[in-house]
Amino acid sequence: MRLYVQKQIVATLIRASEPGLRYVSGGDMARELGITRAAIWKYMESIREDGGIVQAVPGRGYRLANPEDVLLAGAVQTDTSIVGREYVFLPEVDSTNSEAKRRIRAGCLDGLVVVAEHQTAGRGRMGRIWHSVPGKSLCMSVALFPEDLPISQAPLLTPLTAVAVYRAIVKVTGLPVELKWPNDLLIGGRKLGGILLEASGETDRLRYAIIGIGINVNSSQEDIPTALADIATSLGIAGNKPVARRHLLQEVLVCLDTYYGNYLKFGPGPIIAKYRELCSTLGQRIRFAWQARTWSGLATEINPDGGLVVRTDSNDTLILRSGDVHCL
Ligand code: BTN
Repeated sequence: MRLYVQKQIVATLIRASEPGLRYVSGGDMARELGITRAAIWKYMESIREDGGIVQAVPGRGYRLANPEDVLLAGAVQTDTSIVGREYVFLPEVDSTNSEAKRRIRAGCLDGLVVVAEHQTAGRGRMGRIWHSVPGKSLCMSVALFPEDLPISQAPLLTPLTAVAVYRAIVKVTGLPVELKWPNDLLIGGRKLGGILLEASGETDRLRYAIIGIGINVNSSQEDIPTALADIATSLGIAGNKPVARRHLLQEVLVCLDTYYGNYLKFGPGPIIAKYRELCSTLGQRIRFAWQARTWSGLATEINPDGGLVVRTDSNDTLILRSGDVHCL
């Protein structure tokens, strides 16, 4: 009940922040929701604790000063088919992927989205730590239960997500994003986001997949840890202006929902074709580790399973299924 009421209040404040109406009267909201003005005031406090900058002006009412940055339930439109059917915002969590796993065990809906403002133990691929700046990043996970997919098809959710996030970023910012195999989003050769896919199931049936997405949205150069200064960036740095996180998040959910729906209907062919078009690793000379050796060669193709086909300098053909590649 509490969450439902807070969601309604946030939705009202967001609607009011569209050009035109700015302040919403506490009395009107109280009447509409059947609660007291004192209760409305308490809800405003909890919205503030969750990162909403709520301004209150006597005689006029309440307004949100940062509507484009608020990721609370009620602020983010989730009129999608699957992705976002259940939406959870947490001010702080260890990792949204871990939280999604806990909620899967507790019986969440297919399409659950967990968004956190701050991750205390954000995880990257290959056991790495994922750094994000509260208030300036997007950290989210999507739990999916693709009933009839064999587990062998789970890795395809990474290129699918990469293409969806690419589309969302280009739509919202117009910036020239590149996709680096297997899971990186880059601008100008620097990383601005990544995808962490975790899946579980038996051979013939994928029980669940958790797609974790991290995007550096408005981090400044000073926010980026020194060790990453030359290899990481953000959309704000690349475009030289802040990006509305709420719009970007909405667009990511819509694009992911569309591509996932198409994947379930038409299979992986179209998504792999799109990924091939967008993957900047193809045609590049790369270095990579494989079977305890370092190799170099030419990245020639994305195979139908999403693997990277490489013609090595010793003229062997290898198919990489995971791992890191370095462009030479
Ligand atoms: C990578 O590039 O190594 C993958 C980074 C994935 C980070 C995201 S942030 C949201 C989700 N929760 C996590 O702990 N990790 C993913």
